Amino acid sequence: MTHTAPLGVAVIGAGTMGADHVRRLDRAVAGARVAAVADLDADRARALADPVEGCAAHTDPEAAMAAPGVDAVLIASPGPAHEAALLAALDRGLPVLCEKPLTPDPEGALRVLAAERKLGGRRIQVGFMRRYDSEYAQLAALLASGELGRPLLLHCRHRNVSVHPYFTDASLINDSVAHEFDAARWLLGHEITAVQVFRPTPSAQAPEGLSDPQLVVFETDGGALVDVEIFANSGFGYQVQAEAVCERGTARIGDAHGLLVNAAGRWGGPVDQHYLTRFADAYDREVRAWVDATRRGEVTGADAWDGYAVAAACAAGTEAQRTGRRVAVDMVEKPRLYRD
Ligand code: NAI
Repeated sequence: MTHTAPLGVAVIGAGTMGADHVRRLDRAVAGARVAAVADLDADRARALADPVEGCAAHTDPEAAMAAPGVDAVLIASPGPAHEAALLAALDRGLPVLCEKPLTPDPEGALRVLAAERKLGGRRIQVGFMRRYDSEYAQLAALLASGELGRPLLLHCRHRNVSVHPYFTDASLINDSVAHEFDAARWLLGHEITAVQVFRPTPSAQAPEGLSDPQLVVFETDGGALVDVEIFANSGFGYQVQAEAVCERGTARIGDAHGLLVNAAGRWGGPVDQHYLTRFADAYDREVRAWVDATRRGEVTGADAWDGYAVAAACAAGTEAQRTGRRVAVDMVEKPRLYRD
């Protein structure tokens, strides 16, 4: 169905990402309006909804989805709450943009895939926004062109200034490396088949109990190897870099060579401090593309299968962390709905 009126969106979760997406939908995306906001914390829901004209605040996500004028749902609650919200949205046949992860576990993702398949068509996009970053898009196009030959290695670095004190070893995989799992699958066009994790002696800056940094290595069904340095408490900046090594050359992104200043015998520029600034353009493009596709009655971007594939890779990654062994990724066969 094509929408001619602005798309009415219910935003579930009014935290960091939910607030950023409400601002984006309200001010930076044409053809959409925020019709409802839900957060378990009533004050937080009201504070986000009140300044937006015609936007109702709720504490129950399902009540927000059932509110008048809601045509679609953007889920930005914590990962463990996603499955219930996704099933409720699918129950109403509503299109969804779900922040990553689709679900924290592959079993939950399979239940979501089953519910979507019952509708006979795709409704879900997963918020893997790197696919909308201009540098990632250039690297993807270059690799797809075949100009450099077959990709052999992908070196990735993912550094945060710091993370919440409740971040665990598993969070490094589920919250951070999850992005590299999706980006590598998308850039290479390969599925991830096995994961191994290596750890140096932790940094003295690492919080008690967190083994930081770690090196996550994965194999793909296209014969490539991917290594990811995940360094959650680098202290100096938010950096996401990738270098593809191919048969006839290499290509690298994420060096952030924006403004370079020469002064006082040094040269250099700023390092981003947060994903909301590093990927600001990517989030804008992602949400615009979702709104445009939804109004056309289409689903584009990472789909629920991609969300499941990443959940399966994360399960292997956390087992590899726990056991110190190479762990094969266990996946079901891809259903027909997700093959085209
Ligand atoms: P946050 O902790 O800042 O906000 C979460 C909000 O959801 C809180 O206000 C909380 O009260 C509310 N909430 C908790 N349970 C709920 C439920 N059942 N229903 C409705 N609201 C509920 O979390 P943040 O950082 O905004 O993360 C939200 C989601 O976005 C997570 O899935 C996270 O993995 C993802 N994320 C994605 C990023 C990306 O780069 N694409 C970056 C950071 C987070």
